[in-house]
Amino acid sequence: MTFSIKNICCIGAGYVGGPTMAVIANKCPHLKIEVVDLNEERIKNWNNSDLSKLPIYEPGLSEIIKNCRNKNLFFSNAIQEKIENADMVFISVNTPTKTKGFGAGKASDLKWVEACARQVAKYSRGHTIVVEKSTLPVRTAEVIKSILLGSNQSSNEENSSKNTFEVLSNPEFLSEGTAIKDLNEPDRVLIGGEKEEAMEALSSIYQNWVPEEKIIKTNIWSSELAKLTSNAFLAQRISSINSISAICEATGADIREVTRAIGSDTRIGSKFLDSGPGFGGSCFKKDILNLVYLSSYFGLEEVANFWESVVELNNWHQHRISKLIVQKLFGTVRGKKIFILGFAFKSNTNDTRESAAINICKDLLEEGAVLYIHDPKVKPDQIASDIGIEKSKKNIKADNKIYTKERSWYYTQDFLEGADGADAIVILTEWEEYRLLDWSKISRKLRKPAWIFDSRSIISKEAVRNLNLNFWRIGDGLN
Ligand code: NAD
Ligand code: UGA
Repeated sequence: MTFSIKNICCIGAGYVGGPTMAVIANKCPHLKIEVVDLNEERIKNWNNSDLSKLPIYEPGLSEIIKNCRNKNLFFSNAIQEKIENADMVFISVNTPTKTKGFGAGKASDLKWVEACARQVAKYSRGHTIVVEKSTLPVRTAEVIKSILLGSNQSSNEENSSKNTFEVLSNPEFLSEGTAIKDLNEPDRVLIGGEKEEAMEALSSIYQNWVPEEKIIKTNIWSSELAKLTSNAFLAQRISSINSISAICEATGADIREVTRAIGSDTRIGSKFLDSGPGFGGSCFKKDILNLVYLSSYFGLEEVANFWESVVELNNWHQHRISKLIVQKLFGTVRGKKIFILGFAFKSNTNDTRESAAINICKDLLEEGAVLYIHDPKVKPDQIASDIGIEKSKKNIKADNKIYTKERSWYYTQDFLEGADGADAIVILTEWEEYRLLDWSKISRKLRKPAWIFDSRSIISKEAVRNLNLNFWRIGDGLN
């Protein structure tokens, strides 16, 4: 038997739920898709007629929203009603690392996922396919299933006995900044499940635009584990190359040359080998720590230690860059102005979660530097909350710059203002516009001797040659 899916509900209108459902709606005009969230502000922004106010910045997203919103794609807070009407419910809520209790600092906090399972158990009608879109520890589907089946056994639920459920795992592999492209042309779609009919129902949705041979079906536990492993492997490559960048700096080698040499071995491949300020983003650290927790839970301490070292190297690498900046500025940055270019964890996103910029800026503020921070997409309020400084009215100047006395930093959108009198410029995000800066104009504004620290390898040595600037870039042994 094949289930024919007409109505989809996605719980969670975040970085994954929003873009994923937008692409499904765009590719499948015959489906009605309702994206629901507890967060009223977020939903209001998804419904904003001014598309620049969408809660998430992703290239190509606003065009799809314009095309589909209020046709077959809807955003609301009406969680109960939309679950009731759905044949398929995607769970796309946050699964951050636990901060308290057993497994704190490593295990995933599943309270939002559990809340969703309870909502589905309570409100769904008839047969519902529940799809895990969130990244989850292996065997979470078992928990979801127990909650769903438990609701059928509960005698005081009017909604009991007639309802049936199937749980699938369908992890998401999109990257922020290229989410729409990744969703339109995925390397693969992974579906883990038990019953062929339910897996086929989900597969047939993707087949509207994804070639069948790219749809991989596995058992549910393999699917859950493959998602964690995929992120762990990607992050491991970044820690590996960043560890080598430190050796390059110590020995006179150049990380770009080393990368080119090793990446042209087809067994290694050239992707995910760019040395930078350390990986950020909401998932790499969280998913590796989750893997570490699972390994320890199963008594596999050596495995746990192996994966934990990937995160430890990343932390060390970020602080290594802060220290190096202080050292190059004659061992002290107290009272010195430093202009930070980029706060997002990578370009083409407004997301700052786990951004290397957070640790590096905090270190420099701690050392007494005065920071001017620029980012084309990140709002000053977000930066304030990330570096732990509460916004208060008296700290906001009329022109929207934020300044605080105890830890000094300003937000600026003006490159010349940021550079004016600064001792150093630190590039932390690889925004395209930073590649195009006129360094001779900027150099004239800096207080000499001045430094450019390029942690993303986006400026060539030629661009800053003869400008009376000191230049450091990641992994360059001839710095
Ligand atoms: P997010 O924090 O941006 O969005 C989650 C949303 O879920 C929030 O808006 C929150 O209000 C909502 N929510 C939580 N509990 C709810 C409930 N009970 N009912 C209704 N709404 C609820 O998170 P995200 O970045 O979209 O990530 C979601 C999941 O996808 C995580 O497990 C993450 O690991 C995984 N993932 C994320 C990415 C990414 O690029 N961000 C990529 C692949 C996978
Ligand atoms: C990552 C994965 O790439 C996605 O497949 C996955 O779906 C997602 O996590 C998730 O589960 O959340 P994302 O975090 O959005 O996607 O971005 P990436 O492009 O992977 O970058 C992560 C971090 O690594 C960024 O800070 C980036 O600057 C850094 N990076 C990436 C490098 O330092 N070097 C590289 O070569 C690549």
